Amino acid sequence: MAKNLTGRLIDGKLHRPKRQLAMVFDLNKCLGCHTCAIACKTQWTREEGQQDMWWTLVNTLPGEGSPKGWEQMGGGFDAQNAARAGRIPRKTDYGEHMDFNHDEVFKEGKAQTVHFHPKTPSGKPPAWGANWDEDHGGGEYPNSYYFYLPRLCNHCTHPACLEACPRGAISKREKDGIVLINEKRCKGYRFCVEACPYKRIYFNPLQDLSQKCIFCFPRVEKGVAPACVRQCPGRMRFFGYLDDQDGPIHQLVEKWKIALPLHAEYHTQPNVYYVPPLSPPKVDAAGNLTDEPRIPIEYLRSLFGPRVDEVLATLQREMDRKARGEKSELLDALIVYRWPEDIFPGFGKDPLTLERAK
Ligand code: SF4
Ligand code: F3S
Repeated sequence: MAKNLTGRLIDGKLHRPKRQLAMVFDLNKCLGCHTCAIACKTQWTREEGQQDMWWTLVNTLPGEGSPKGWEQMGGGFDAQNAARAGRIPRKTDYGEHMDFNHDEVFKEGKAQTVHFHPKTPSGKPPAWGANWDEDHGGGEYPNSYYFYLPRLCNHCTHPACLEACPRGAISKREKDGIVLINEKRCKGYRFCVEACPYKRIYFNPLQDLSQKCIFCFPRVEKGVAPACVRQCPGRMRFFGYLDDQDGPIHQLVEKWKIALPLHAEYHTQPNVYYVPPLSPPKVDAAGNLTDEPRIPIEYLRSLFGPRVDEVLATLQREMDRKARGEKSELLDALIVYRWPEDIFPGFGKDPLTLERAK
């Protein structure tokens, strides 16, 4: 089998869809506010059996993420394009549904004596949850750094989920590369869940089928940006076609080469890219600025691969240019406050976007 595939092998031939929609997340701008996750949830996952589904979520790093320990669960392909063994996350890896004692604190007049604490249906203290690393602080104490990593289905060019489904229930659209599960064909076998190395497919036990992010294709087909992109107050999500040379995706991924895939070693060729986080300056005990990076570079390499050094150096170089009052075309492309209709021509039809943009 061919190494370094840049498409799927179909009948022995390499195949890519005609066009590919993709996202770039600038991790330097993510606020960790979860507006994206709520925008997605209120739009798509309100049916029975979807209560605990988060097709897009934001993990606090370092941490174990959601489902807990997903980076160690396997899936994807090896460099020879052979499927790697994966496992299905356990229910406990997603954590128990939890709520807080809001009524007790806010409505029963006990605010002086009672503090917020989580409640679970079982009555036991929760052991894990979708936002656990944020709520409890990720990494080992004293962890002096953290950053946010939004995650969703990567609409991979070589989707392990698609290859794994014996029912042929998963397809990749020719016109835009969106990966979809056909719910009429799906019988809940969950080989797709095993195979996805990003563990971005959820099993719906009440409907006995699997579900995941659909890249908001019904919105996209109406010229409206995906809900998470549209609602992100940090404007850290860029969306568009990889081959649109004037668009942000092409510029950030291909021209400037500062957006990197997450865990490319799974060989699924993900189409969600990340601008890695620059460490804020570190101050030593005497109050002097040090050269030591706050976020260990090895950790960033483990997520985004060896090119992360070069990308961070480029970002720093451009920041220094800006600080000297020089123009930086790259930072202008990255930092400028943009509305979705600016970053994806044709998406200006969204009436809400137009109204808010005035
Ligand atoms: Fe499939 Fe997972 Fe890739 Fe999404 S991220 S296309 S579910 S392998
Ligand atoms: Fe196939 Fe996954 Fe459904 S393996 S049958 S799409 S649960």
